[in-house]
Amino acid sequence: MKQCSSIDDIRSEISALKKQGKTIAFVPTMGALHEGHLSLMRLAKEKADEVVVSIYVNPEQFGPNEDFEDYPRQLQDDLDACEQEGVSLVFTPNDKVMYGSGEKYFRIELDTLNEHMDGGSRPGFFEGIVLVVNKFFNIIEPDVAIFGQKDIQQFQILKQMVYEFNHNIELIAAPIARANDGLALSSRNAYLSDEERKIAPSLYRALQYVERQIKDGVMEPKLLLNHQQDELEAKGFKNDYLNVFSMKTMHPVKKLQPGNSYILAGAVYLGKTRLIDNIILDL
Ligand code: PAJ
Repeated sequence: MKQCSSIDDIRSEISALKKQGKTIAFVPTMGALHEGHLSLMRLAKEKADEVVVSIYVNPEQFGPNEDFEDYPRQLQDDLDACEQEGVSLVFTPNDKVMYGSGEKYFRIELDTLNEHMDGGSRPGFFEGIVLVVNKFFNIIEPDVAIFGQKDIQQFQILKQMVYEFNHNIELIAAPIARANDGLALSSRNAYLSDEERKIAPSLYRALQYVERQIKDGVMEPKLLLNHQQDELEAKGFKNDYLNVFSMKTMHPVKKLQPGNSYILAGAVYLGKTRLIDNIILDL
C-alpha cells in the first residue's frame, strides 16, 4: 500500500495502474475509520481491481459552530486499517494541497435537493462536500466510487453531480453498518458518553417503529412521527428532523403512494453529538 499526499504523486500512481489496465474503485473518507468505512472498502474490492481511499477532514463542509477542530483524527490507525483491507493507495492531502493558499473565485451552488434534511439544517454542508468530491473525482478519475447509504442525501446529491458534470464514474451505495444494538456506526459516536451511548440506538428504533406502521398501511405518518419525536425528546434527545422524504426530490412527503421510493430519516442531538440515520422505503 502506498500513501500519497500530493496530487502529482497520486496521479502518477493511478496512471501507472491504468496503464496496466487496472480498474479503480474510490472510497472517500474523513478518517477515524470504523467498520462502516471498511465495509465500503470491501465492496470497492468487489467492484474494481484496485482500491483508492482518501482520508481528509474537509474544512469546507463544516459550519462555523461545528466540530471541525474536535473531529477525531487517527491517521496511523487508519493507514493500518486500509492496509489490512488490501487498499492499494491512500490519498492524504492537506488543506494547501486541496485548496491552495490563494483566493477562491468559484463556488458550486446547489438547488432544491439541498433544501431539506441535512441540507436544510447545515447551511454550506453539501456545497463543501460537492466541492471536495468534485476535486477528488478530477484528481483520481476512478471507474467506480463507493458511498454509504448512511448519508443518503450526500449520495443522491453526488449522483446528480456526476450526471450534471459528466463525470464518467459509477456511484454505488453501500448498506448502513450498525453496532449490535442497531446504532449506525459513525466517527462521531466517539463523542458519546457511556450514558448517551446507551440511549443512542433509540433513534434507529423510532425509525423501525415508523417503518413497521407504514408497511402495515399508515400512508400519512405525520402523527406517528410527531409522537416518536416526543418520545425521543423525553429520553433526552434534541430533535432536528424525523420525517419521510421523497427519494427523488429529498423533500418531505405528507401522503405516501404505493410504487414510490421514500427515505425515512432522522437527525437528533444527544448532548453535543449529532446523530443521523435512515431507512429506505420501497412501497
Ligand atoms: P465520512 O463521514 O468519513 O464517511 C465516508 C463514507 O463512509 C461515506 O460515504 C459515508 O456514507 C460512509 N459511512 C459512514 N458511516 C457508515 C456506516 N455506518 N455504514 C456504511 N457507510 C458509512 O461522508 C464523508 O466522510 C465526507 O462527506 C466525504 C464524502 C469523505 C467528503 O468529505
